[in-house]
Amino acid sequence: MKAKEQKRIVREGYDRPSYAYRPDDTPDDYERYADWVEILADHVPDGSPVLDIGCGCGLPATKLLATRFDVTGVDFSRVQIERARRLVPRAHFLCADVQALAFDPETFDAIVSFYTIIHMPLEEQPALFMNLTRWLRPSGILMAIVGHRAWTGTEESYLDVEGGLMAWSHADEDTYVRWIEGSGLHVHWLEFVPEGESGHTLVFAQKPAVEVAS
Ligand SMILES: C[S@@+](CC[C@H](N)C(=O)[O-])C[C@H]1O[C@@H](n2cnc3c(N)ncnc32)[C@H](O)[C@@H]1O
Repeated sequence: MKAKEQKRIVREGYDRPSYAYRPDDTPDDYERYADWVEILADHVPDGSPVLDIGCGCGLPATKLLATRFDVTGVDFSRVQIERARRLVPRAHFLCADVQALAFDPETFDAIVSFYTIIHMPLEEQPALFMNLTRWLRPSGILMAIVGHRAWTGTEESYLDVEGGLMAWSHADEDTYVRWIEGSGLHVHWLEFVPEGESGHTLVFAQKPAVEVAS
């Protein structure tokens, strides 16, 4: 499938079942997001600029992040972003393809991306990690859900929404470590996040600190 077609499927695929994916009354302690925000908060000072890639409707991750940080959420689904603006008024939102964005170098102290990179065209993912590294400040953190095992495919009636279609393409964990370290970050740890009979990998990586000349 061509990259453009995959993005159209994913964008429209989240416009339609946005509420089926995450209702407005999603609790803050839904799944493990609160734990992940706590881990981030151990490494990133309150008030820091944080980017949330593929923020969806903002529940619960962007909302939790926005209680501590100055958050910018990006999502290319119009419905998801409209909901996010309503549900998380403290954060800033951009309705855009993150792979087409150009932030200034060293803009963010942390970048998070939960369950989003796995939807992006595989051939564009190595360049995405190069961009993320550029946008992070020295010592900045990347916390991202990536593939555990490689898989590319589509699913009809995604989330039981009639006519819904969704697409994924992701590499395996070792490939992500290679891409992320190749972009200049150090991978501190990986954690398997189970989902049904399989699961994903949570990556915690960091940009090196500025070297002080001796
Ligand atoms: C599975 S949802 C995850 C939402 C949220 N991060 C969470 O964990 O609840 C994936 C989101 O990524 C967005 N997305 C996928 N590819 C994107 C891209 N290239 N640019 C911006 N948003 C993208 C989709 O529109 C969707 O809202």
